[in-house]
Amino acid sequence: MTGQETVLSVRDLSVRLPRDGTDIQAVRNVSFDLRQGEMLGIAGESGSGKSMTLMAILGLLPRRAHREAESIHFAGQRIDTLGPAAMRSLMATGIATIFQDPMTCLNPVMTVGSLLEEVYLTHFGGARRVARDRAVDMLERVGIPEARKRLNQYPHELSGGLRQRVMIAMALICEPKVLFADEPTTALDVTVQKGILDLILELRRDIGLAVVFVSHDLGVIYNACDRVAVMYGGEIVETGPVGEILSAPTHPYTAALIRCIPRIESGPRGRLSPIPGQVKVMSGDLQGCQFRERCPIAIDSCATQTPPLVKAGPDRWVRCPVRTDGTVPELHP
Ligand SMILES: Nc1ncnc2c1ncn2[C@@H]1O[C@H](COP(=O)(O)OP(=O)(O)OP(=O)(O)O)[C@@H](O)[C@H]1O
Ligand SMILES: [Mg+2]
Repeated sequence: MTGQETVLSVRDLSVRLPRDGTDIQAVRNVSFDLRQGEMLGIAGESGSGKSMTLMAILGLLPRRAHREAESIHFAGQRIDTLGPAAMRSLMATGIATIFQDPMTCLNPVMTVGSLLEEVYLTHFGGARRVARDRAVDMLERVGIPEARKRLNQYPHELSGGLRQRVMIAMALICEPKVLFADEPTTALDVTVQKGILDLILELRRDIGLAVVFVSHDLGVIYNACDRVAVMYGGEIVETGPVGEILSAPTHPYTAALIRCIPRIESGPRGRLSPIPGQVKVMSGDLQGCQFRERCPIAIDSCATQTPPLVKAGPDRWVRCPVRTDGTVPELHP
């Protein structure tokens, strides 16, 4: 169930990164809304700008990167104008993050208990005993058995799945409204992967958490998310309800990504259709549609006219002049 309240609203977000004397346009004019309790998937091949979009929202970019945005609002408050200290505080209590590799955020010389307590005390203060009880609650919440015993263990003493659960516990101990999950299950085996995904879904249902879930795997997004934004070359090329988009994609790139999903009914010899060509580095002249060289339905004007994101149905938007021909183009807000 999703509430009506928009918790995160991103408008016209772009990121440029200087590299070898030119600018890489890693994120280009990305806009989306995330509602309370909603799970939005971001899909796309490697290098399409998924992680950079999340990092840019949080202001966590490489030092030489340049971010531009018309606005970013969290819970009605403008956050693209906040300084680093206010952003750090927001990341504990507003928008928390989990990543593919838990070891990047689990300090190896701290025990699980002190890691969790530290996050809690930094933001709420109070007695260590209270923080410790809260840490045990959180570990139980994320399904870690014998939670109190785990407090004295170090991250390297835990399995990959348990480490991921500890990272989720750390992310959620201050009760954020939004969770950014960037490929949180990719490095895990399928059973553990399912456990983590179920946990995120459960937390979403129980505490109304809104989630942005990044994955290159559209199958996982289909099972978990309400809406999907498909990224290509730093842009959103198609977005809308996940069921509609996966059953009837409008953008040829989305259609190509769907053909890459393995299907059990196809059997071990079932054929996948990899997308020909590669994601190109977005720099220099970016006129026209960036997918055109790999696109089976491209027409001449795709090389000269940059397609805007236009309405393709209720709550559906697509960036493709061929597929939107003949419709009255209503531009994405
Ligand atoms: N630290 C960095 N410095 C410079 N360029 C970077 C950096 N990180 C990413 N990029 C570039 O920014 C673009 C978008 O990268 P991003 O990491 O957002 O892709 P992604 O969609 O998350 O891919 P993946 O699925 O591999 O995680 C790519 O061209 C990438 O090479
Ligand atoms: Mg990434």
